[in-house]
Amino acid sequence: MYTLPSFVHHIPAQRLPDLLQRMPKAELHMHIEGSLEPELMFAMAARNGVALPYPSVQALREAYVFDNLQSFLDVYHAGTLVLKTEQDFYDMTSAYLARAQADQVLHTEIFFDTQTHTGHGLSAEVVINGLHRACIDAPARFGMTASLILCFLRHLSEAEAFESLEQALPLRDKILGIGLASSEVGHPPEKFARVFARARELGFRLVAHAGEEGPPAYIWSALDVLKVERIDHGVRAIEDAALMQRLVQDRVPLTVCPLSNLKLRVVDTLAQHHLQRLLDAGVMATVNSDDPAYFGGYLTENFSQTFAALPMTAAHAYALARNSFDASFIDEGARRGHVAQLDAVFESFA
Ligand code: HPA
Ligand code: ZN
Repeated sequence: MYTLPSFVHHIPAQRLPDLLQRMPKAELHMHIEGSLEPELMFAMAARNGVALPYPSVQALREAYVFDNLQSFLDVYHAGTLVLKTEQDFYDMTSAYLARAQADQVLHTEIFFDTQTHTGHGLSAEVVINGLHRACIDAPARFGMTASLILCFLRHLSEAEAFESLEQALPLRDKILGIGLASSEVGHPPEKFARVFARARELGFRLVAHAGEEGPPAYIWSALDVLKVERIDHGVRAIEDAALMQRLVQDRVPLTVCPLSNLKLRVVDTLAQHHLQRLLDAGVMATVNSDDPAYFGGYLTENFSQTFAALPMTAAHAYALARNSFDASFIDEGARRGHVAQLDAVFESFA
């Protein structure tokens, strides 16, 4: 745990919106296929000869209304059909990194999966090489660092997850960690116990989506069975007092995605979001954009809308930014450098 620098208390409330934009951040929960904006999707469809089932960019955007996670995943999956070449994966990632840079993101850990794309006849190599080349170019092009987390799709079988891991192994050095995404309810973490154990032996960092729509029991088993280091979403932890205590005691980070929770109807309004309650209880929560092209905002927009809806302060903003660096998988030297930049920006607002 850190001590809150005293200048944080001297920041006037009216400066918060500007501070949320200007403060340095890390993003730890963003699915790269969910950053594909309709304009780029149409451009790729044209260059790859793929027909989209929407007449225009505007019609596509208007279709982005969801009832739950599954209704989103169906639309999201359709959007991935335009991705065909290594350059497509490079361009999609570069477009996200440019947006992240504008939001003062200093470091990002990007989720992707290969199963969606191998299911469309692409090789895992095309996907990973395109994404990785964009990450390698990120410091020079966008003044930030980026690394990759390969997610297994939990609606598919354990055998298919093993196959995805196997296909990634020749490109092992290009991947930092392993995660678990897609339809949560009915696909508990235990289903992937053996493949996560294998990934752990191979030295991958481990994370998993749990407690977005699924029950607190899925958060327990992500921690105790999969042995993950962070929980993605995890907002339903608030329903389980013993779990809250565990998260606080072990400093388990939650990568919370407020606009995602709103658009997928996990909450009815941002005013009802549990982010502030999680932070005030001492949980190491962070803010992230999940699938920004679909959910109406990139990282700063997630901060701005959430702070506009809840009585959160500069101390909460500091906690969220600080947690994003402390929860990331960067080395200690880089982390300290980012925290120094964070402190300097907060001090300049006091
Ligand atoms: N949850 C599960 N799977 C996903 C998500 C999410 O929020 N976004 C993209 N794949
Ligand atoms: Zn997600």
